[in-house]
Amino acid sequence: MDFAIYSLALASLGWTVLATDTSLVINKVLSPNVNRHAGSLPGKIHIRELDWTVSADQWNWTHPTSITTPLPPHGTKQAPEAALDRTTRNDTNDNTHLQQAGSPVNKTSPPFDLIIMSDTLYVPELLTPLLDTIYALCTANSNPKGSSLDPTSQGTSSDHSPSSLPPPTVYVGLERRDPAFMESAISLARDKYGFVTTRISGRRLAVAVGKAGVKWEDIWDDVEVWKWVLKPKGETQ
Ligand SMILES: *[C@@H]1O[C@H](CO)[C@@H](O)[C@H](O)[C@H]1NC(C)=O
Ligand SMILES: *[C@@H]1O[C@H](CO)[C@@H](O)[C@H](O)[C@H]1NC(C)=O
Ligand SMILES: *[C@@H]1O[C@H](CO)[C@@H](O)[C@H](O)[C@H]1NC(C)=O
Repeated sequence: MDFAIYSLALASLGWTVLATDTSLVINKVLSPNVNRHAGSLPGKIHIRELDWTVSADQWNWTHPTSITTPLPPHGTKQAPEAALDRTTRNDTNDNTHLQQAGSPVNKTSPPFDLIIMSDTLYVPELLTPLLDTIYALCTANSNPKGSSLDPTSQGTSSDHSPSSLPPPTVYVGLERRDPAFMESAISLARDKYGFVTTRISGRRLAVAVGKAGVKWEDIWDDVEVWKWVLKPKGETQ
């Protein structure tokens, strides 16, 4: 299984990683894989439960195991086996922001430099919860308390506090099993949430994979990597 592979790869490059998933996947796959392989890596991997259906104003960055601590049961559906890795670079400059936000030294809270998610677009009913979650993580860089924002109100605020950081770049790995659904997911991210969405060309992917010593295989041709960046506030179009 490769549920920890992005986290392990990033930690091997020296990044501090916050790996998130559902508690089931964490217990069965993610934690065991990280524990088995991460010990010798230069970066550190933190693991937290993140239920996409819990709105950002309920998030708890100081809880040791879950950003979305279990709420009273009301049939909350958790995101299934998708891995959403959140990373922040091992960069001491960021500590000022973390300290201002009252966070511990361990980097398990915003601001983040990079968000990587893979195979997270697959069920229509989880699309809005996922995009709400990603949007909240991206806006948390300029609003580290992580309050839930209404994406439709984007652009109406003009505050640029000195502590604001640009939103993290989001890399989205997907397999185009259902092209119509993928198109609608990407359109929604672009039109409702204000992400600039760019596909990394297949040729560039093959070259990058080749540099790691792996030959691109035809069965991967439906795999795409997209780069999403939230447009700065106030920018139109
Ligand atoms: C990460 O930060 C720690 C503590 O500040 C430092 O000792 C370590 O060398 C850093 N690792 C990298 C890869 O920068
Ligand atoms: C967040 O989690 C911490 C650690 O479990 C807990 O002490 C705190 O009360 C929680 N905060 C909220 C708002 O639930
Ligand atoms: C960082 O987290 C580890 C457990 O992951 C804990 O043992 C350590 O005390 C924490 N350090 C700080 C400074 O909070």
